[in-house]
Amino acid sequence: MDGQYGDSTRSVKAVGSEAVPGSPIASPPVPASTYHLSPDETEPLDSYGRSSNPTWRQLESALAELEGAAGALAFASGMAAITSVLRVLATAGKKLVVPSDGYYQVRRYAAEHLVPQGVTVVEASCEEMCAASADADVVLAETPVNPSLDVVDLHRLAMHCRGRGATLVVDNTTATPLGQQPLSLGADLVVASATKALSGHSDLLAGYVAGSHPDLMAAVARERLLAGPILGAFEAWLVLRSLGSAGLRFERQCVNAQALALALRGHKKVRSVRYPGLPDDPSHQIATLQMKRFGGLVSIELEDAAAVHALVERSALLIASTSFGGLHTSVDRRARWGDAVSDGFARISFGIEDTDDLITDFAQALG
Ligand SMILES: Cc1ncc(COP(=O)(O)O)c(C=O)c1O
Repeated sequence: MDGQYGDSTRSVKAVGSEAVPGSPIASPPVPASTYHLSPDETEPLDSYGRSSNPTWRQLESALAELEGAAGALAFASGMAAITSVLRVLATAGKKLVVPSDGYYQVRRYAAEHLVPQGVTVVEASCEEMCAASADADVVLAETPVNPSLDVVDLHRLAMHCRGRGATLVVDNTTATPLGQQPLSLGADLVVASATKALSGHSDLLAGYVAGSHPDLMAAVARERLLAGPILGAFEAWLVLRSLGSAGLRFERQCVNAQALALALRGHKKVRSVRYPGLPDDPSHQIATLQMKRFGGLVSIELEDAAAVHALVERSALLIASTSFGGLHTSVDRRARWGDAVSDGFARISFGIEDTDDLITDFAQALG
């Protein structure tokens, strides 16, 4: 089905219910902690809410379909998914590579929780990933990396990891499965936050792990069962509901990002622009080989923090917020969170507004 249909068709089909006459097209959520057991003690499909839930199953099969995976596991947040995978793979004595330029909380988790457990943690930029993973057991890559939007050559890294017996985990949050499918490029597991463009309405947190190795997926499922970082049924249902329009929303976000990256690059108040979709971006060549769409994030550098604040204040459309992938175009000055970027560096998440309105708004807000 994957190769046959476009992204919006895949999104819509992924959330479809079985065509049973009289049953609702949109399945309702199943909020349940406890289920009836059979008197003969045979194991029912669902027995307790930390092990399984019918709404998770629907969401997980939609996510697996979009990622091109045999299966997926829903989690309470992107960090819940990532840390569960790390607890399974990066055990005492192992060497783990994490992005030095990626989502900062992952580095914090590794430093505060894995290093004290006896894990050797190495931080590497997109460019350094292959060299750093030479003797690694686990490599966690993120691409395009948040917030600089550099890109990792996933096929090359996957070949490198495979040759050395390392497990490659790819954070697919910024690209989404509608932008790239890391498993098809050789990754062993995908981890992602569904808080961003997949759910896309800035109203919930969710995460997932997708993969096709039965043993790996079973180990992650067991970690979820034992540690309990589970997604509520209602949130699972909301993500599922949002997935149907994810193709449409992501397409518009990418169109807006591409148009505004081009427009901003020519503006005298903008010192630099990073977007993998710009033909002269340092990441464009690799991005073109591995991405179907370049995503809704653009990074820009203005003179200083005051210039970023002024941009938001003078705009009629931009909101200041951290996180990304929502309906609204938003601006996040990343130095405030401690990212190693200049004070005037802003990550812009493009929403689904009309492109021309955003072009006009940015032009007047930048002055
Ligand atoms: C690339 C990336 N991965 C993971 C996460 C964590 O996701 P969540 O906030 O859903 O835990 C984020 C959050 O911003 C992120 O940007």
